[in-house]
Amino acid sequence: MAVVSSTSVSPGLLLLAALLLASAGAASSSTLSSTFYDASCPRAYDIVRRVIQDARVSDPRIPASLIRLHFHDCFVQGCDGSLLLDDVLPAIQSEKNVPANKNSARGFSVVDDIKSALENACPGIVSCADILALAAEVSVELAGGPRWSVLLGRRDGTTTNVQGAKNLPSPFDPLDKLQEKFRNFNLDDTDLVALQGAHTIGKVQCQFTRENCTAGQPQGVLEYLDQVTPNLFDNKYYGNLLGGRAQLASDQVMLSAPAAAVTTAPIVHRFAGSQQDFFSNFVASMIKMGDISPLTGRDGEIRKNCRRVNSKGY
Ligand code: HEM
Ligand SMILES: *[C@@H]1O[C@H](CO)[C@@H](O)[C@H](O)[C@H]1NC(C)=O
Repeated sequence: MAVVSSTSVSPGLLLLAALLLASAGAASSSTLSSTFYDASCPRAYDIVRRVIQDARVSDPRIPASLIRLHFHDCFVQGCDGSLLLDDVLPAIQSEKNVPANKNSARGFSVVDDIKSALENACPGIVSCADILALAAEVSVELAGGPRWSVLLGRRDGTTTNVQGAKNLPSPFDPLDKLQEKFRNFNLDDTDLVALQGAHTIGKVQCQFTRENCTAGQPQGVLEYLDQVTPNLFDNKYYGNLLGGRAQLASDQVMLSAPAAAVTTAPIVHRFAGSQQDFFSNFVASMIKMGDISPLTGRDGEIRKNCRRVNSKGY
């Protein structure tokens, strides 16, 4: 930041700076910043948005898939892009092959396309971890949900954590297990309920649903997570829970588990009753999730190819 003498700075600018510092301090414990690429890659956001817009023409599920990638990245040794690394055995064992990801996590080729477009515009500047954070926000927005300023400045890790990936929340986890897995990252019941609201869009393979393909479909057949407004990012998901119609057991337990009555269920009711309440909490929780142990400063690297650490070539 440039050093300026106080006489050259308007009171308004000082106030603005103070407000920005205050809000950054409230939202984040790290040094991430919404202006991180303003000088080095000013079009970063527009480029991410353009690639996702293009991709979803042929694949309308892409916004949902990209939101999930940011979650599966951040919950495994922090938001460091570790999820994106491919196998380079024995050095790198990919997180993509654990049960929560294999034949399930998708959208990786869109991340590659975003990375290529960014490397063309500003080589070596935008991290893969930040791509996932930006892509999640753009995806929520394009699906009709809230918008927010994404905090940026994450760097990419050079390792994976397969054990961590195996510990990702499972649709068969009971409520206390889900709460524990969120609390491990400083995410509370409100965060758990708000973030699961991402299941307002996207699809699920029938073997993960409470009905478990009982209509006789083969495993892998896709159903909507929100069967009321499947492609719209809204609060209908919580209405589905109230009607006992959540697709995943891990969704429904937030209302129906015995312990939910004094923990998560009141929050489900609140969000079902107010989309505004859901949206503002979802944004706050996404910012918290996006701030899980980021690598900053000189830690990590800016990968050239999101699938490979730089030293391993590509
Ligand atoms: C509480 C723990 C969670 C569990 C147990 C869980 C589980 C699942 C499962 C089983 C699927 C379907 C996967 C498949 O059929 O291949 C899914 C999809 C999805 N999840 Fe979650 N999830 C959780 C939290 C979250 C969070 C925190 C987010 C994002 C903020 C999220 C976003 C999504 C999205 C958008 C999809 C649809 C993806 C697509 O259509 O490609 N989930 N989740
Ligand atoms: C779903 O049904 C299949 C076939 O009946 C069964 O093998 C499997 O254990 C069931 N899954 C769950 C989670 O109950």
